[in-house]
Amino acid sequence: MVHKVIFIVLLVGYIVGEVKPAEKQEDFLIFTVATNETEGFKRFTRSVRANGLVDNLKVLGLGKTWKGGDVKKFAGGGQKINLFKEALEEYKDDTERIVLFTDSYDVIFIGSGELIIDKFLSFDARVLFSAEGYCWPDKSLASKYPETNRGKRYLNSGGFIGYASDVYAIVSSSDIKDQDDDQLFYTKIYLDDELRKKYNIKLDHKAEIFQNLNGAVGDVELRFKGNDAYIQNTAYNTVPLIVHGNGASKLVLNSLGNYLAQAWNLEEGCLNCWDDTIELQKDQPETYPVLLIAVFIEKPTPFMEEFFERIYAQAYPKSKLHLFLRNNVPYHEKIVEMFVKEHGDEYKSLKQIKPDDNINEVTAKDLSIDYCLQKKCSGYFLIDSEAHLDNVHTFKLLVEQQRGIVAPLLVRPFKAWSNFWGAITDDGFYARSSDYMQIINNDRRGLWNVPFVSNCYLINATLINNKATRPVYAFGDLDTDMAFAQANRERDIFMYVSNRLEFGHLVSPDNYDIKLTNPDIYQIFDNKLDWQRRYIHENYTENFNPNHTHIQPCPDVYWFPIVTDRFAEELIQVMEAFGKWSDGTNTDPRLSGGYENVPTRDIHMTQVNYEPQWLYFLKEYVRPLQELAFTGYYHDPPRSLMNFVVRYRPDEQPSLKPHHDSSTYTINIALNRAGIDYEGGGCRFIRYDCSVTDTKRGWMLMHPGRLTHYHEGLRVTKGTRYIMISFVDP
Ligand SMILES: *[C@@H]1O[C@H](CO)[C@@H](O)[C@H](O)[C@H]1NC(C)=O
Ligand SMILES: *[C@@H]1O[C@H](CO)[C@@H](O)[C@H](O)[C@H]1NC(C)=O
Ligand SMILES: *[C@@H]1O[C@H](CO)[C@@H](O)[C@H](O)[C@H]1NC(C)=O
Ligand SMILES: *[C@@H]1O[C@H](CO)[C@@H](O)[C@H](O)[C@H]1NC(C)=O
Repeated sequence: MVHKVIFIVLLVGYIVGEVKPAEKQEDFLIFTVATNETEGFKRFTRSVRANGLVDNLKVLGLGKTWKGGDVKKFAGGGQKINLFKEALEEYKDDTERIVLFTDSYDVIFIGSGELIIDKFLSFDARVLFSAEGYCWPDKSLASKYPETNRGKRYLNSGGFIGYASDVYAIVSSSDIKDQDDDQLFYTKIYLDDELRKKYNIKLDHKAEIFQNLNGAVGDVELRFKGNDAYIQNTAYNTVPLIVHGNGASKLVLNSLGNYLAQAWNLEEGCLNCWDDTIELQKDQPETYPVLLIAVFIEKPTPFMEEFFERIYAQAYPKSKLHLFLRNNVPYHEKIVEMFVKEHGDEYKSLKQIKPDDNINEVTAKDLSIDYCLQKKCSGYFLIDSEAHLDNVHTFKLLVEQQRGIVAPLLVRPFKAWSNFWGAITDDGFYARSSDYMQIINNDRRGLWNVPFVSNCYLINATLINNKATRPVYAFGDLDTDMAFAQANRERDIFMYVSNRLEFGHLVSPDNYDIKLTNPDIYQIFDNKLDWQRRYIHENYTENFNPNHTHIQPCPDVYWFPIVTDRFAEELIQVMEAFGKWSDGTNTDPRLSGGYENVPTRDIHMTQVNYEPQWLYFLKEYVRPLQELAFTGYYHDPPRSLMNFVVRYRPDEQPSLKPHHDSSTYTINIALNRAGIDYEGGGCRFIRYDCSVTDTKRGWMLMHPGRLTHYHEGLRVTKGTRYIMISFVDP
């Protein structure tokens, strides 16, 4: 019975032409050297496992001290050969067994052992080294290389494969010091005609197994076959099985590593997101790790109240949160102090740095890290005043992700600006990666290894505790964000950005002018989302519900909720702070004709520099309502030359005589409260003998201008009444 099964297996194998001694794949050995279990090393072993080869892997040197020098900058790496030689000794007489050696921190396996072995056998070599386009470390040897008509010419020792006996003979052919260069060692053997023939050494010129990326980034493309990612070498039309981010190409490897080896696929999305994650139980707040929340306010920033509200709203036990508040903007002191007064003592501890302390940003960042250590934090969560965490679970989700550095993806709404860079130029500046737009638009969701994160991120305290990995915020004349990212890149500390879920957004401080009264109300262009949340009436969208019956207090006079109480109050403050109300006479130098037939006491939007914002408001929020109320009339954008706030009071101008407006339609927004802030007032439409007196703050009346809606402003008997008027499409 057993024999029959074996026979059938062999027969099937024979028919599909893949008969191979079964022991080949099992005997196949993969050696690598790693002295530290870095994130790059974890990525490597993950890829080996994903290709079913984890039992074939032998890791050399773990926990040992690296003596091979700084191979990024200088030659070195002889220690790799010495470790390999030692490990290979037991196989030195094995002429059948195939062994493969690769680096680990910057290597990813893409193909199965079977494919690798098949490819190797097709070379008809005893030993095959990977190849690259640079002759390193001794350029003068370039001319000694045999001619190649196609492919990369020079040997790279970051990956090679061969029969155990031959590989052993090579590594033991002479002694090498730990700090000597391993690539030079192998190169010399390869360039010796006699030895090359003796060991039958060949180079993988066309990346059939080994793809070295340095100098060859343009040769490769990330592609998908079915759901899975692979790389295609378009220069030589090959599909490499092992990719090596040598030299300057490691950031490209990091990007590819976001997809390769089943890290991410088209159907299931992010698979490596689930590696090493933990779950924090809602009902066990005592198990949550302690975080330091380090808030940095470095420049005047709009919507600070909302910023603090969102930090406060985070669903994370406050008994597990220390707070470090660094504010360097006197203008924001009030809001910071308000937050501290209201909520400060709910946190485990609180430390403040104020504008008066005269501490620069780098020092403040250092102090915050020291504070984290002093409080024995488990994580350091930095957040800039621009970062709004709309998702109340952000702290928790990022902790559960368990990465050294992880940022929530935050984007400026409607813009392509975010808190990460997908790629970087050689001189350290922004470059757009091919998947950048897909990530910020959430067409691809996942956890992305990227070369730059800023504004908001969680750093695990294990990194902070170690001098070699503690965050750095000063680096030449780079700004603190650039310095931080640059130092992490140099130390091979991965920075991840997550868009597995929505976390929040960035506000833009670019055109924020704190010299204005209520500067946030001016932010409709730069920060439309936040502006809308703060200033547009919460029932505004209800106007568009098809089931909604629009209120008409008088014939063809519509009444819509449009702005918040806050908007109304702030607009009045803007006007009163400006204070130059017109005198109510017919002479009006603000008008092109200099004459006003029906004068009011008012201030024009142009006078408080609010005209562009107001016209945009008309276009974005008023026009759609007009189209609902008066169907068939379509003017986009609406035009309006007269936009102003009117003030009625008994001792100034209490009322307005009957008149027509020179407009197609007029809007009239009540800015304060009838019966509370003033008495009397309202608007009477004479033709219908219909008055609206119980006006509601934040609600807008909309009525036709000429002909039908002859109207008057009713007398205010007490207090002050404010309304906002526009004559649209005069
Ligand atoms: C690597 O390990 C050594 C100790 O073996 C340690 O001193 C060093 O900080 C580690 N490097 C990193 C980047 O973790
Ligand atoms: C930091 O890392 C340690 C060890 O991996 C882990 O136990 C801890 O939960 C992490 N802390 C945070 C805040 O993520
Ligand atoms: C919005 O509408 C709901 C339901 O009619 C009402 O309860 C609520 O008070 C309205 N909001 C405001 C700000 O008027
Ligand atoms: C409108 O009313 C219908 C019937 O009452 C209801 O099924 C539908 O959900 C309502 N639509 C909205 C947007 O509320």
